[in-house]
Amino acid sequence: MVDKILHKCCGVPLAIITIGSVLIGKLVDMEEWSKLYSSIGFGNEENNVVENTRKILLFSYYDLPLHLRTCLLYLSQYREDVLIEKDSLLWRWVAEGFVYEEQGIGLYDIAERYFNDLINRSMIQPIGFSHDGIISHCRVHDMVLDMTRLLAKEENFITLLDGNEQNTYPICSNAHRLAIRDKKGLIDTCMTHLRSFNAIRCDKFWPSLSSFQALRVLVLDAGNCNMDNTNHLEHLGKLIHLRYLGLRGVDTLELPKEIGNLKKLQALDLRGHRIQELPHGVGQLSHLKLLRADTTQTRIPDWIGNLTSLEELWMSEADESSNFVKELGKLMELRKLCITKKLCLTSTSAVEAWAKSVTKLLKIQFIRIGWVELNGYDDSTYCWEGFIPPRQLRALHISCKPLGLIARINPMLLPNLSHLSVHVDSPDLETFGRFLELVTLRLDMDGIQHHDVMGRQGAFPKLRVFKTQATPGLFLEGSMPSLESLHFRVEARTSEDGKVDHFDFHSLRNLPLLQEVTVDIWLAPGVDLNKAMQMVKRAIEILPNPPILHMKITKSAWLDELFPC
Ligand SMILES: *[C@@H]1O[C@H](CO)[C@@H](O)[C@H](O)[C@H]1NC(C)=O
Ligand SMILES: *[C@@H]1O[C@H](CO)[C@@H](O)[C@H](O)[C@H]1NC(C)=O
Ligand SMILES: *[C@@H]1O[C@H](CO)[C@@H](O)[C@H](O)[C@H]1NC(C)=O
Repeated sequence: MVDKILHKCCGVPLAIITIGSVLIGKLVDMEEWSKLYSSIGFGNEENNVVENTRKILLFSYYDLPLHLRTCLLYLSQYREDVLIEKDSLLWRWVAEGFVYEEQGIGLYDIAERYFNDLINRSMIQPIGFSHDGIISHCRVHDMVLDMTRLLAKEENFITLLDGNEQNTYPICSNAHRLAIRDKKGLIDTCMTHLRSFNAIRCDKFWPSLSSFQALRVLVLDAGNCNMDNTNHLEHLGKLIHLRYLGLRGVDTLELPKEIGNLKKLQALDLRGHRIQELPHGVGQLSHLKLLRADTTQTRIPDWIGNLTSLEELWMSEADESSNFVKELGKLMELRKLCITKKLCLTSTSAVEAWAKSVTKLLKIQFIRIGWVELNGYDDSTYCWEGFIPPRQLRALHISCKPLGLIARINPMLLPNLSHLSVHVDSPDLETFGRFLELVTLRLDMDGIQHHDVMGRQGAFPKLRVFKTQATPGLFLEGSMPSLESLHFRVEARTSEDGKVDHFDFHSLRNLPLLQEVTVDIWLAPGVDLNKAMQMVKRAIEILPNPPILHMKITKSAWLDELFPC
């Protein structure tokens, strides 16, 4: 029976994976499988690959629980091949009401479970940012997308205007959701019953927001608009049912102060804006869980602590002048904090207040800070004085000059730390190796000598990605047994006779799962780039199972390429 089913998959990977995901959940019983085989209803004609794959996908779709079907249909509005950002997708599911509350679990966490379920059932494909192991995006296979579009249309779930439809404008549809991918006009009267509106492009025939009064989700990804958008947001305050507001790329200098009327708002995404001050009204949004204001211009208000429901806060810069470090401690629900550029702490009291605030965040799991600047302090232990990272932390991406945090990071204190990115002076790999949950590690460090050992037997048991800006030392057998991806830097020099020095990567043979290596080649003056690249290539090729090699020429410093959240 298995053969028969696989035969119907005609060797199409998507079909095999999808049907495999369905079968895993079924009884291993001939009868069940026969039933499944006949219920998929393969056509008699052999080799109808596309048709059979469709049937398998459709079968898998109807095998999904209802809530997952809804979440999947929602993806029908995205374009082919587009990378869908996980965080904003999950918050939109929440805002649409697709996510069912459960006692004691946050809505985002439940949505994340749905997301993982869809991955597990091969309906969506996870995409991690440059293999750092954190799933930041997903993609929908073309055939799955086709299917969801048909189903979404049939079920009147979403109206998608992507320029391919036959209809003439204006369009009125009964669907509660409208997604526009095309620059065409709409008239106001169609909008009164809409619950979700998502436009990628816009034009001057833009409906007035006053006609959207039932909206729960409004996303204007309107990068190409050249109209007066400030005017356009005029009626924003009337959308009192709104839960998700994404104004990414809408070129506006300020938000209307009536935004305070949107009492139900859960998510406010203001990426790519020139807004300088958030209106006071935002301070009254007591249900706001996500605030993305990570543009350089946007100042974090000194009343940020009023937003006590916040679970995710993104900003570009922070300093003590805005009282931020104190206010932070009031955000008790915070799960994720990203300060994408820098945090400036210029006084002892600011450093203390920061440390104290972070200690209060009992739900924080993810902290990313591009850079910490301490004007005038150069005592290296001073930087993180009093900073005890919260015990439940899973990801810490942090940098600091002067250095010195490492003394305070202790594997016993952070049992679940899975992603760590730090800037260190003398790397103590013994210590890092004892973080048993660590999946990705990024270390900026100087001065590793070739005879240093990269962890002993049993160190780094789960580590899959290791990046460093230094030349690593020896990899011993039994350390980093799960490592898949390694990124490091070498310096290419010439010896006295003018030849490029050899590279010795022989200890990489002790990494049984290593799949790819990225080597940053730093060229000493006068070294021939091609020769250096050849040397690196040769040193990798002589390994018993040579990993895939990528080479880069180092130009930028560590911080030019920041970790994304
Ligand atoms: C995927 O599903 C299988 C079978 O239903 C289950 O055993 C497994 O734990 C799931 N994996 C994840 C990551 O959810
Ligand atoms: C923040 O909360 C304080 C105390 O409740 C209140 O006085 C103030 O007006 C609030 N600020 C804003 C901007 O909502
Ligand atoms: C670590 O993760 C486990 C499993 O998710 C959880 O039960 C436990 O409470 C976490 N520990 C801490 C200190 O957060």
